[in-house]
Amino acid sequence: MRLDGFVSKAAGVSRSQARTWIRRGEVRVDGQPVREAGYRLDADTRVSVGSEELSLPGGLYLMLHKPRGLLSATRDAHQQTVLSLLPDALAARVHLAGRLDKDTSGLLLLTDDGDWSHRVTAPARHCGKVYVADLADAIDDTGMSRLADGVMLRAERVPTRPARLERLGPARVRITITEGRYHQVRRMFAAVGNRVLALHRERIGGLALDPSLAPGRWRELTAVERAAVLD
Ligand code: URA
Repeated sequence: MRLDGFVSKAAGVSRSQARTWIRRGEVRVDGQPVREAGYRLDADTRVSVGSEELSLPGGLYLMLHKPRGLLSATRDAHQQTVLSLLPDALAARVHLAGRLDKDTSGLLLLTDDGDWSHRVTAPARHCGKVYVADLADAIDDTGMSRLADGVMLRAERVPTRPARLERLGPARVRITITEGRYHQVRRMFAAVGNRVLALHRERIGGLALDPSLAPGRWRELTAVERAAVLD
């Protein structure tokens, strides 16, 4: 994420105040003054203002590589949930910041910070969620542009918001949506006469699933990643 965005979120100041500090050379990145507001931070970068290292307010923030076959729920009487992948002490503390279908894999966020999860999932923020869909049938350009423009889902009255689509193969598409309707991606492809065979979430906002996390594994987010989700 950008340096000015991180400083503003972590220090609780406006972006223009953050840019003033950056311009004056008061913000250091890994110990060196950086005067460029748009400087891109890596996940493990350390940022300080004066002698104070910046971090976001405390709490527990996890990314989990959800495998297919587990429920995105905190508890269920009959089926195994994603919380079974965490140690008991952590599982007792966290809730889900968004959900994935049982058959979907990929990036899932868990936290004990209700404000943060609300901001991640609030429909009004239009936080982008990026999925890769493997389809039953090849999709043509007409189908791609219908989905990009917005389609009417069964039993709904408002079309989906515009989506970004990228063709990865004849029946493989990367799709970015900014809503979170029930089974949305599967229903969007159904609306153009196709069917999703496999679905994987790669990214939420400015945060990508760590490629070194195997399905079923999790880790804590860094302060930069926590802010990047909301980017
Ligand atoms: N859309 C779906 O259809 N399923 C998911 O799990 C996420 C988005």
